[in-house]
Amino acid sequence: MEKTDMEKDFTELLAEDQSLIERRLGELFQDSPRFADLQEAMEYSLLAGGKRIRPVLTLEVCRMCGGEVQLALPLACAVEMIHTYSLIHDDLPAMDDDQLRRGRPTNHVVYGEATAILAGDGLLTAAFEQVCAARLPAPQIVEAAACLARNAGPAGMVGGQALDMAGEGRALTRPELEQLQSLKTGALICAAADLGCIAAGGTPAQRAQVRAYALALGRAFQVRDDMLDVISSDQELGKNTGSDQANEKTTFVTTLGLDGCAQLVEELTRESVRALDGFSAPGFLIWLAETLAGRKA
Ligand code: IPE
Ligand code: IPE
Ligand code: MG
Ligand code: MG
Ligand code: MG
Repeated sequence: MEKTDMEKDFTELLAEDQSLIERRLGELFQDSPRFADLQEAMEYSLLAGGKRIRPVLTLEVCRMCGGEVQLALPLACAVEMIHTYSLIHDDLPAMDDDQLRRGRPTNHVVYGEATAILAGDGLLTAAFEQVCAARLPAPQIVEAAACLARNAGPAGMVGGQALDMAGEGRALTRPELEQLQSLKTGALICAAADLGCIAAGGTPAQRAQVRAYALALGRAFQVRDDMLDVISSDQELGKNTGSDQANEKTTFVTTLGLDGCAQLVEELTRESVRALDGFSAPGFLIWLAETLAGRKA
């Protein structure tokens, strides 16, 4: 097949996955009781778009490992719920203090800080309810819950956010920065991919390869995020640019400069693609890594 035809297929597959995810996320709280403005605030951020990269990874890793995509959907939604909670809290005045997210005023700007904190808490907790409701054998559900908790929690994303906050206003060394970024962003991206492999009943060797792919992809993703904070605009990105500088963060841009960042993104993308050697149908995930390397938002 011509490369352009393949690209078209992959773009269509991405759109299909995204709409599957949108539909399921939209149904999640439809029948739940509504208390004050809590559920509205949760849906405000959850249903505001977003690239849905993490849940797409869950679905497509599941497919690549020979699993049934529908079975992975609750796990995919769980990752996106945790990611959305992390964004709501990340934007709070006590953290990055940002006003724009996914093209809308941030959660705390609309609903106030208390409700924004609770909306994050609600999404985090409900994510594990989703995992438990997956139509998978019990050992796979336990494995999935453990994977998500480990990567989203204090030894993963939350730990990275703690390092990020503690690092404000001082220059971090390259190893400190690598650790911070791998935790705050890499860990959840790694979990997203691993969950797809778990849903498919993948072998330990497949899981190791998938995690290696996602770790490198996650690192590239955050380096690109640091670049976009400098080179993009609020309008194009749908979130505040210049936030890192305003908060005196050490980023890959302050450490390596923009050219160094572009080179690192390329290297990490190549590393992620190499990790998929031996899978029979890695095409979409290779294309995704390459596409994300040059993303504009
Ligand atoms: C933003 O993540 C926060 C980071 C970890 C870099 P995304 O760039 O995936 O944000 P959405 O989900 O598309 O809004
Ligand atoms: C946040 O990193 C990563 C999270 C765990 C939410 P950033 O603070 O760089 O994310 P953005 O740029 O606000 O999306
Ligand atoms: Mg932050
Ligand atoms: Mg931020
Ligand atoms: Mg950022």
